[in-house]
Amino acid sequence: MYADFLKVAEHAARTAGSILLKYLGQPLEVEFKGDADLVTKVDRLSEEAIVSIIRDNYPDHQILAEEGTNQESASRFRWIIDPLDGTTNYAHSFPCFAVSIGLEAAGEMVVGVVYDPVRDECFTAMEGGGAYLNGKSIHVSKVNKLNSALLATGFPYDRRQHPDDYLGLFRSFMMKAQEIRRPGSASIDLCYLASGRIDGFWECKLKPWDVAAAVVIVREAGGRLSDFKGNKFSILGNETPGLSISETLASNSRIHEEMVEAASSQ
Ligand code: IPD
Ligand code: CA
Ligand code: CA
Repeated sequence: MYADFLKVAEHAARTAGSILLKYLGQPLEVEFKGDADLVTKVDRLSEEAIVSIIRDNYPDHQILAEEGTNQESASRFRWIIDPLDGTTNYAHSFPCFAVSIGLEAAGEMVVGVVYDPVRDECFTAMEGGGAYLNGKSIHVSKVNKLNSALLATGFPYDRRQHPDDYLGLFRSFMMKAQEIRRPGSASIDLCYLASGRIDGFWECKLKPWDVAAAVVIVREAGGRLSDFKGNKFSILGNETPGLSISETLASNSRIHEEMVEAASSQ
């Protein structure tokens, strides 16, 4: 049912990916949206290319994209787009970044495409159809102990305001997991979870466009997503009363309870 949407999303992601590659390594003017939150002209060019492909195909659909496109309508479909996930990496020519395009239908994520142009790796999924990497079926790992797990995480842009919250969590996972990576692109982290390259992931204060596409890919690959207490995951965030931290905890399902425990025992 969603196959046509997926095709359009993949075409848009690959088109945007070629724009990212074209400008990679060239001198870029970096603007700051916040303390540590960057944006470049490439983020904007990528967004324009994706939005134009989606509008050509589905003029009445809603669109929410990181660099400003916010098209509202009565449609039950909404595209949620990160035109360049991993901008800091990109600005340093650190080759870990992606284009992320998700489709929501009546509030549920149903299609996801995450494209890493450097490795030409395209992660795709649609609800009920399994998850794929360049057309080959992928699945989460079978690691069943946190002690043997490779985890990934990232630090939110307000890290200088709340270092203790984030380092407390990091410390707790560091003491219990086999190892931790901090690659710098949440959508890639989540796709690596879906394809068994890592076993778990956590991060605070991600935005809908960081995770929208990847949640479909993770779920279809057999993974699980929740907040830090194991409650239902929402891409619009799960506010923890008092802390006001929106939490993403994702795993291969097998180590989920142990990760929830580690997140609460910092
Ligand atoms: C960022 C990346 C990074 C994560 C940040 C995100 P951006 O997205 O996904 O891995 O740690 O929280 O904001 O700003 O490069 O699109
Ligand atoms: Ca992002
Ligand atoms: Ca981005």
